[in-house]
Amino acid sequence: MPQFEISDLITVTDPRSLRRAPVRRDDVLRTLAEAGNRRAARIVGTLPVDGDGVLDPAAVDRLLIGVHTELQRLSEEMRIGERVLHLLGPLLEAIRETAEPGARLRLVDIGCGLGYLVRRLAATRALGPGVELIGVDLDAALAGEAARLAQAEGLDCRFVHANAFDLPEAATVYVSTGVLHHFRGPALAEFLQAQAASSAVAFCHFDIAATPITPLGAWVFHRARMRHPLGRHDGVASARRAHSDETLLHAADIPGIRPLVYEPRGLANPFCTTLRPLLGIRPHLEEPFRRAMGRASRRLVGPERFAA
Ligand SMILES: C[S@@+](CC[C@H](N)C(=O)[O-])C[C@H]1O[C@@H](n2cnc3c(N)ncnc32)[C@H](O)[C@@H]1O
Repeated sequence: MPQFEISDLITVTDPRSLRRAPVRRDDVLRTLAEAGNRRAARIVGTLPVDGDGVLDPAAVDRLLIGVHTELQRLSEEMRIGERVLHLLGPLLEAIRETAEPGARLRLVDIGCGLGYLVRRLAATRALGPGVELIGVDLDAALAGEAARLAQAEGLDCRFVHANAFDLPEAATVYVSTGVLHHFRGPALAEFLQAQAASSAVAFCHFDIAATPITPLGAWVFHRARMRHPLGRHDGVASARRAHSDETLLHAADIPGIRPLVYEPRGLANPFCTTLRPLLGIRPHLEEPFRRAMGRASRRLVGPERFAA
C-alpha cells in the first residue's frame, strides 16, 4: 500500500507555472481510502470546503503554517542547525580553498518551509561572510511566512516562492531538510541529477534516517511534541517513507558527483540518529573536505561500503 502524507495531498502547486490547483476533498478521500488509510481520511474529512467541495485554500495554508511551526520546534530540539553546520562548515572551507579568492557563495535551501535552517544560519552568521542565504519553496504560503519571520527577526537572508531549479541564479551549494523522502521512485534520482547538472559544486540533504526503530521513534516523538493530528500523522508517515542509505547513495551515483552519507546505519547509534545527510560533492572537493572534517571524516562513507 502506498504511504501518503496528508500535506502532500491537500495542496498542489504546478512546479512550472507556480499556480495552485484547486483540490477537491472527495478526491483526497478517495486516494486515502484506496490506500486503506482511514485515520488520514478522518483528518481530511474535517477540513472545510466550498460549495463545489474544493478545500478552502486559506484554511489549508493556516493549517500547514501551524504544523510547520510545530516542526520548527522539533528542529530546534533535534539541533538540526548545529548538525547541518557540522558538515557545512568544513564543506564551505573546502569550497573556499578551491574557489577563486573572494568568490561569493550562494546556499539554496530547497523546500525551505518556514525557513528555519536559513534563518538559523543567518542569525548565527556561522558560515562566515560572503555567503548568500536563500530559501525556496513551491508553496507560496510557507515561503511568504518564512520571509515575514526573517524580516521580523532582521535577518540577512531571502525567501522566494519558486521552483528551486528555476531560480535566475545558480546555487553553489544546495541543501534541504526533510525533503528527500517526498521524492519517490525515479523522481529521487531526477531531483539529484538536476543539481548535478547545474553549476553547483555540492549538495547536502538531511532526511530521516531509515532504521528499524524509526517509525516507532517518530510516533513517540510526534505524539509527545506535536498537537495537530495532521502533524502527528505525517511525522509517522514520513518515517515510514524514509529512504535507506543504499537507496540514497545509488540515486546520487551520478557522473561528476562523489556521493557520501554521513553517519550511515551501522556507524551511528540508531537511538540518537534522527536525520542524517546525503552529500554529493564534486570529486576535487573530497580531499579538502575530509581534511577539514578531521577525525569525523571517518563517518563519511560512499557506495563502496555497501558493495557486495
Ligand atoms: C516537508 S516540506 C519541507 C520542510 C522544511 N524543509 C522543514 O525542515 O521544515 C517539503 C517542501 O518542499 C517543497 N518543494 C518540493 N520540491 C521543490 C522544488 N523543486 N522547489 C522548491 N520547493 C520544493 C514543497 O513545497 C514542500 O513545502
